[in-house]
Amino acid sequence: MTDNADAHTRAAEKLIVALDFPTVSAAQNMTALLPDELRFLKIGLELIYAGGLPLAKTLAENGRQIFLDAKLSDIPNTVERATASAAKLGARFITVHGSDRKTLDAAVRGRGDSKMQLLAITVLTSIDANDLREQSISMSPAELVLTRARMAKDSGFDGVVASAQEAKSIRAELGPDFLIVTPGIRPAGVAAGDQARAVTPADAIAAGADYLVVGRPITAAPDPGEAARAIIAEIERAL
Ligand code: C5P
Repeated sequence: MTDNADAHTRAAEKLIVALDFPTVSAAQNMTALLPDELRFLKIGLELIYAGGLPLAKTLAENGRQIFLDAKLSDIPNTVERATASAAKLGARFITVHGSDRKTLDAAVRGRGDSKMQLLAITVLTSIDANDLREQSISMSPAELVLTRARMAKDSGFDGVVASAQEAKSIRAELGPDFLIVTPGIRPAGVAAGDQARAVTPADAIAAGADYLVVGRPITAAPDPGEAARAIIAEIERAL
């Protein structure tokens, strides 16, 4: 492969498209519009409850990388068994709520020796300082994110889902190998929608993100394939 083709492939590997759709057929139609080099797809709660798990298995069998955004949270025995079941689907990433050590440790046990990588949800970006105060938590959201990211790494997690604003401090504290997966991405000139603190693909890469999750800027674009190619090009320039 030439250096240029190599750089393009590396950029395309960093983009994860969020398949936030109510039906399997809508998700499949979108997948068919994406460029071939884009391999990573995120299946979240909306699609999981609408046939998304068999779809995840099929896509993984066809060579796609699957980010199962399952946001697991339950007693340790249930989290362990759910993680083990998810690993059998062939997912590459799964998310687990990382607010306590027992849940994290259970997911690590459930993953066993599968290749599935574990990502902790530290603090949802919808949570603000007032929400924490209501729970008698005096830390700021940013401090709590770091505390939980540290705990996730210590427990054996591979990384976290974090906003680009949080990525810098997580990268500085937890080192180069801890994965940072960043949603809330908006290319310049695209409507932010409900993402309050959106950043551009280039800024997210500069902040230390390993993977960017992008939904509507691609899936709601008039030409999703073209929108995805433009974001891949922006990532490539930023790398
Ligand atoms: O359409 P959009 O690009 O906003 O989609 C972002 C995706 O990332 C959605 O699937 C959303 O659930 C997810 N996400 C997010 N913010 C977080 C965590 C996940 O937007 N803090």
